[in-house]
Amino acid sequence: SAAEKDGHDWFMRKEIFEQPRAVADSLLGRRTPAGLLHLDEMRLSDDELRDVTKIIIIACGTSFYAGMVAKYAIEHWTRTPVEVELASEFRYRDPILDYSTLVVAISQSGETADTLQAIRHARTQRSKVLAICNTNGSTIPRESDAVIYTHAGPEIGVASTKGFLTQLVACYLLALYVAQVKGTRYGDEITEIVHQLEEMPDHIATVLESAEQVYELARSHLDTRSVLFLGRHAGYPVALEGALKLKELAYIHAEGFAAGELKHGPIALIEEGMPVLCVVPPQGRDQLHEKMISGIQEVRARGARTICLAEEGDTKIEPYADVLIRLPKVPVLLQPLVAIVPLQLFACELATAMGHDVDQPRNLAKSVTVE
Ligand code: G6P
Repeated sequence: SAAEKDGHDWFMRKEIFEQPRAVADSLLGRRTPAGLLHLDEMRLSDDELRDVTKIIIIACGTSFYAGMVAKYAIEHWTRTPVEVELASEFRYRDPILDYSTLVVAISQSGETADTLQAIRHARTQRSKVLAICNTNGSTIPRESDAVIYTHAGPEIGVASTKGFLTQLVACYLLALYVAQVKGTRYGDEITEIVHQLEEMPDHIATVLESAEQVYELARSHLDTRSVLFLGRHAGYPVALEGALKLKELAYIHAEGFAAGELKHGPIALIEEGMPVLCVVPPQGRDQLHEKMISGIQEVRARGARTICLAEEGDTKIEPYADVLIRLPKVPVLLQPLVAIVPLQLFACELATAMGHDVDQPRNLAKSVTVE
């Protein structure tokens, strides 16, 4: 009923709008009075964690893209090498695992068969397993050495939305926790990043306030058969997740690419009028922003219609954006928390306008419990 959906037409839309709260809840109670981070369930000692020389993140679907973002944060803050692997591929390649490898399993449901089998395999190799999960007491956290629960609340829409944002939060917290234990970052810096995270619910709410602009844009794409998404750095997994949402909900061919790979193939796909959604990194000292703009220029010169998500105050993007969607100014590593939101809204609205059931897309299941 509409009441269950808080007046929204679909659970998915309700869940998209719950994201500021879900992110805030996932940050609650993470600090001890002394300001140190702690996790929900921890059966690993600090010494064991300090001995970790490699982290392997395994997941499926949207959770895998959260893992890709996590790699940027964990490596940057902890200087520990991170691999990210699809759970369905992991076991079959004879992965190199031992007691000094920490396997991080990300699963909203905690029941995905491939992810579960992957952690079971890791434990036979004496690796430690940490689960990031939204479902208390589900199988994956039960079989893990440590757990960070996300507090998204039940996610009913088959395509994950608030699950994804809260997984990102848990990944940032994990990265900061490891940094704290390993001493690769100091207390003040960790506190500063936690403060930035605590500001994210307000930033996400700001993005949601401009939903109508995104909805109108989506409704003008009813005849679109193919959409490309471009991103770089932490914006690359966002591009992949934006494309996944469009496939899952609107059944449109959509692909995400790392913008730096354009010349190695994707640019050949560009046709007159093709929509290309571009996740523009924040302006910074590095060259990410300039490089992204040059990629956008190239697709536009070949006829693409560029729809750019760029931070407030970024004027350099203006000449190259056919459509400009503004994002709040946030650090590059945290940008996925705001950048994915317009892409979720876009897919939800386009699919709805096409007459599709966005809560129960065809052929898909909320939790894939068979391999
Ligand atoms: C299914 C769902 C996706 C989800 C994936 C992984 O494909 O439709 O939304 O991302 O499973 O699920 P998990 O529960 O392991 O995160």
